Amino acid sequence: MQEKTVFITGASRGIGLALAGELARRGWRVMAGARHPAGAYALQRAAENAVPGSIEILPLDVRSDDSAQAAAEEAATKVRSLDVLVNNAGVFPEVGSETLEELPLVYFETAFSTNVVGVARVTRVLLPLLSRAPHPRVVNISSRAGLISQKEDARHICYSASKAALNMLTRGMAAELRPRGFTVVAVTPGWVNTEMGGPGAPVRVEDSARSLAAMIECLTPGETGQFLDRDGKRETSAW
Ligand SMILES: NC(=O)c1ccc[n+]([C@@H]2O[C@H](COP(=O)([O-])OP(=O)(O)OC[C@H]3O[C@@H](n4cnc5c(N)ncnc54)[C@H](OP(=O)(O)O)[C@@H]3O)[C@@H](O)[C@H]2O)c1
Repeated sequence: MQEKTVFITGASRGIGLALAGELARRGWRVMAGARHPAGAYALQRAAENAVPGSIEILPLDVRSDDSAQAAAEEAATKVRSLDVLVNNAGVFPEVGSETLEELPLVYFETAFSTNVVGVARVTRVLLPLLSRAPHPRVVNISSRAGLISQKEDARHICYSASKAALNMLTRGMAAELRPRGFTVVAVTPGWVNTEMGGPGAPVRVEDSARSLAAMIECLTPGETGQFLDRDGKRETSAW
């Protein structure tokens, strides 16, 4: 049987780390992107505990063209094709309660360059490897915070704006890549107990990763351009 291959960005901790371990356990070959591989101890441990070779750690800072290009070149030396790209790396720069006047504008730059431009940057350089797969899939880890139609409060507007932009990028990528056989979706992982989600988050990271892995394995071309929850259910048609 042909090897199933996935590239996950931001796999050093949180959802990316848990998803790398979960997909490796399910028999996938995982290219795990990490900004600082030498300090990514949890990811190193996951790779050591997995079937040898099933988790490969690749340096990747999604905000850098050179880093993305080098990661794509390194991935091409390890796998012939990529079935799935999970654009998971993300930042939440604000506390969440700041007013517009209080919010340092540089937070918008950080959020957009990571959560939006980073996704376009990494997807572009991995298109050649993805194009060699029979059914290439791009899974953009988004958030309900990015649903414009459901935004009623004033909290975390910087993060929310970046995820709304990611949702639009997802729609654009889905439309462009559909004729090439790609499935491109935005997915919300739930409110998850990670550094970003905080200790009060109700969803355990292992549970989110398990649902996301099952959803990735079931993704069909008919779902391209949709906003899904981690169980693969269409979350909304009113983004
Ligand atoms: N947790 C939640 O409740 C929740 C809810 C909705 C959506 N999400 C989304 O889920 C994704 C993962 O979130 P998480 O909760 O796992 O967050 P997290 O625990 O804060 O982990 C974020 C990951 O992104 C990486 N990252 C940040 N900037 C990067 C860059 N420039 N280049 C490469 N990697 C970078 C981090 O790497 P370093 O270790 O190097 O910093 C880390 O691996 C994000 O896109 C987030 O917006 C999370």
